[in-house]
Amino acid sequence: MAAGRSTVGVAAADHSALLVDDEARLVDDEPVQGIGDLTEHAAGRDFLLDAESFWQVHPAAADTLVGAVLDGLRPGPGERVFDLFCGVGLFTGALVDAGCRAWGVEWSKSAITHARHNVPEARFTAAKVDRALRTLPKRTDLVVLDPPRAGAGRTVVNAVLTRRPRAIAYVACDPAAFARDLRRALDGGYRPTSLRAFDLFPMTHHLEVVAILEPETSAEA
Ligand SMILES: C[S@@+](CC[C@H](N)C(=O)[O-])C[C@H]1O[C@@H](n2cnc3c(N)ncnc32)[C@H](O)[C@@H]1O
Repeated sequence: MAAGRSTVGVAAADHSALLVDDEARLVDDEPVQGIGDLTEHAAGRDFLLDAESFWQVHPAAADTLVGAVLDGLRPGPGERVFDLFCGVGLFTGALVDAGCRAWGVEWSKSAITHARHNVPEARFTAAKVDRALRTLPKRTDLVVLDPPRAGAGRTVVNAVLTRRPRAIAYVACDPAAFARDLRRALDGGYRPTSLRAFDLFPMTHHLEVVAILEPETSAEA
C-alpha cells in the first residue's frame, strides 16, 4: 500500500468484510474467499454483486428507495421502463416484478454481468447512459434515473424528455446536481409531483431524494 494511505475495513450487509483504502478501492487485487461475490436481498429478490459494484450502504436503503420509486411511478403491466444507471439491477428487478418490460443501462461491465444474472427477465446494455440513449427505443412509458453525484447532465435529461415518458423517478444523492437536472426538466415541460427525502446517511448532512417528475399537461389534468 502507498505511503500515507489508510486502510479501512467495511462490513457488508451479509456480514462479510472488505479491506479498502481511503479512496474506497480494494486493497487486495486477488479475490479472497468471502469478498469476491456478495449477495444482498432487497425488494423480494437476491442480488449478486461484487466489491466493485454499487450497492446502498444503509441496510434499509434498497427496500426504502424501491418502495418510493414504485409508489411514485405506479407502474402498470406491459409498460416499458428504462432503468438508467441501473447498477446490478435493483430497480429493474422491482419493475419487472410489477409487470413492466424493463431495460437497464450501466457502464460497469461487471455490474451488467451481475444484473443479467439478477434480473434475467430484463434487457441490459453495458454503456455510458448518454451513448445508450442514442440507440434505445424512441418511446418509453417510465424512466428511473439514479445517477452518481455529478447528476445525469443535460444530454441525458434531454434525451429522456424527448421520449415523453408518463413519469420519471429521479433518485438523487446530491441535491445541487439534482437541482441542475430539475431545472432542465422544468424547462422541458416536466414538473415534480412528489419529492421525498430520506436520511440514509445518519449523522451526516447527506440526504437521498426521490423525485417524481411528470409532464406539465398530464399533471395538471
Ligand atoms: C448511484 S449508483 C445507482 C445504482 C443502482 N441504481 C442501485 O440503486 O443499486 C450509479 C450507478 O451509475 C453508474 N454510472 C456512473 N456513471 C455512468 C454513466 N455515465 N453511464 C452509465 N453508468 C454510469 C455507476 O457505475 C453506478 O452503478
